[in-house]
Amino acid sequence: MKRGGTDDQKRRAAESAAEAVESGTTVGLGTGSTAGFAIDHLGDRIDEGLDITGIPTSYQSRQRAHKAGIPLATLEDDRPDIAIDGADQFAGTTLIKGGGAAHAREKIVDSAADRLLIVADPTKEAEILDHPVPVEVLPDARPTVASRIEGLDGEPQLRAAERKDGPVVTDNGNLVLDCEFGAIESPETLAARLSAIPGVVEHGLFVGLADEIHVGTADGVVVRTE
Ligand code: 5RP
Repeated sequence: MKRGGTDDQKRRAAESAAEAVESGTTVGLGTGSTAGFAIDHLGDRIDEGLDITGIPTSYQSRQRAHKAGIPLATLEDDRPDIAIDGADQFAGTTLIKGGGAAHAREKIVDSAADRLLIVADPTKEAEILDHPVPVEVLPDARPTVASRIEGLDGEPQLRAAERKDGPVVTDNGNLVLDCEFGAIESPETLAARLSAIPGVVEHGLFVGLADEIHVGTADGVVVRTE
């Protein structure tokens, strides 16, 4: 499911976004390899005196932040001033996320932030979104949600675990259907239709949430705002 740029491209994007974080703020910490580089860079900046608190979006980002020395909080304690997160594909500032099955908590934290900065490599950019859309479902609802998605001309596929027999189970104890829709001409419409299906916990379309996309290239960073 994941597309791959180089680590250098990812690191450049991540460090560019992490440099935008100011002392005294609370930061939503995204999931994935590119967001992980941002967490590491925030840890380096803490060593130099930056004062922040992080709100992680997954078990993975919590562990990485802990290792980087970022003090952590939850949404019970605070709201993020800024969030930094990755994406599996973007067109303009509309995203498909969930390659790491963390999109439910990512959407909660990212949408609670005043500003959302996305960090990505150039392989993630598209004219029109066409990556399969991850849909997190309650386990009991998998068959009914799958039928409803077929009714939307989607092809749902249960995400299989790689080093475990059987399906991926999310941090929330749910399953993921990766849903192929071909070219998504209206992400807003599809997002609303997916959200309306009983048993859908969250889908990976992020519409109207991202403020900036930091794209790491071979020799710099391009920041897209629309
Ligand atoms: C996890 C995500 C990730 O942010 C997305 O998969 C991008 O990851 P990477 O930077 O490793 O390509 O949405 O659910």
